[in-house]
Amino acid sequence: MSSRSCSLPPALAALGVAALVSLPGQARADERFAISGGVSVSLSFGQKLAFGLGADLRAAVLMDGSQPGGYSTGNMGFGPFAQATWLNFSAGRFAAGLHGGSDISDDFDNNAYSIDGEFGWTYRTRYSDELPGQHGLHVGAMTTLFSPLGLELSARAAIPLSGEPFVPEGTFGAGLRFPPPFGVRFRPIVGRPLRTADGVVLPPALGLGPAVSALARLDRATRAALAGAWLDSARAECGSIPAFLALARDLAAVGAPASLVARALAALDDEVRHTARCSEIASALAGWRLGPALLPPPAARDADRQAALVRMALEAWHDGCLGEGAAATRARRSLAGAKDAGVCAALGEIARDEALHAELGWRVLAYCLAEGGREVREAVGDVMTGPGPAPPRDDAEVEGERKELRAFGQLPRAEADAAWDETWAAARRDGERMLVG
Ligand SMILES: [Fe+2]
Ligand SMILES: [Fe+2]
Repeated sequence: MSSRSCSLPPALAALGVAALVSLPGQARADERFAISGGVSVSLSFGQKLAFGLGADLRAAVLMDGSQPGGYSTGNMGFGPFAQATWLNFSAGRFAAGLHGGSDISDDFDNNAYSIDGEFGWTYRTRYSDELPGQHGLHVGAMTTLFSPLGLELSARAAIPLSGEPFVPEGTFGAGLRFPPPFGVRFRPIVGRPLRTADGVVLPPALGLGPAVSALARLDRATRAALAGAWLDSARAECGSIPAFLALARDLAAVGAPASLVARALAALDDEVRHTARCSEIASALAGWRLGPALLPPPAARDADRQAALVRMALEAWHDGCLGEGAAATRARRSLAGAKDAGVCAALGEIARDEALHAELGWRVLAYCLAEGGREVREAVGDVMTGPGPAPPRDDAEVEGERKELRAFGQLPRAEADAAWDETWAAARRDGERMLVG
């Protein structure tokens, strides 16, 4: 990159301040509270056949679901809800109470499905002299498909508690919901993520003081967006450093060949270089020295060797074969459109190294399959033959001038998603062959 001094633009100063206060726990996968709204049409029957137009608002305190191997199954949660429905354009039904349920998917699925139960109080206003206003118990269930804008299907019942007639009323509804009731799950990392007992953690970013700024020809908004995207990359790369240290330690602990341990340590070295490369680019764009803070490796937490082999096999598949494979494909595609010399050098290095890291993932997977027997084979088979994982969702479309974004190595969202899909399709073919063989 050419270097030319200039004052810190306000947008980038704000980015620097935001970076200063970013903490590891703030990885966007870790939301603890969700608010969700829905609109729906419904059909009620029992006391009177009625068409309904409804709105629903609900909040949830979230807990993380998990499955063996430390993989999240998405969120579980509970909290209050409130609903209002306009019946036959003449009467109203109101309901309020508690709801609780769970996502039903793994953490690469972006909570494509959830189920949610409801229990509370309901009141219908007067239809006619024969059907006066009535209180009741509300019970219901709802499923949401797709994310973050979901299709919602519901079945609800009102059991009268006052007045006549004592005829329960049932309602079926369909509508749209945004966001899903238990939050949108993000997969925050491209490449190998740092998994801890609390889930995936993204290292915090630090603003380290003014830097020589380059690239004055870019407008401020584009520079800020690019600096933010490269800083996110630096944080993801930095998270891979303790992840590889932990991999080397765990490989040694299960008695893996020394060559595998050595390759994990060599990959750690690569991630140190990637972190520095990405930080340099972010700093040059921002005119502010930016970089992530190194985090310690997660504590060893496997109950025994067999549990370690299962976990390492799943991680090798998710984080190596898929995550680092996709990072390599994506870097290659980014390189094809990049113009800036520093960006091209970084992407070339990352594309080459990440392909080697993905290959290491395959070797670790092969080792765990050979050592772990049927249990490892079944665990890996389940995730390989399950639904296709969605592309990473935490790298939002970078806003700015399209040509400049490409020149600085940022792919449009659709191309980044295509890189993911391509990696997934190829990895699945190879993975299934490996399981059979
Ligand atoms: Fe990397
Ligand atoms: Fe990597």
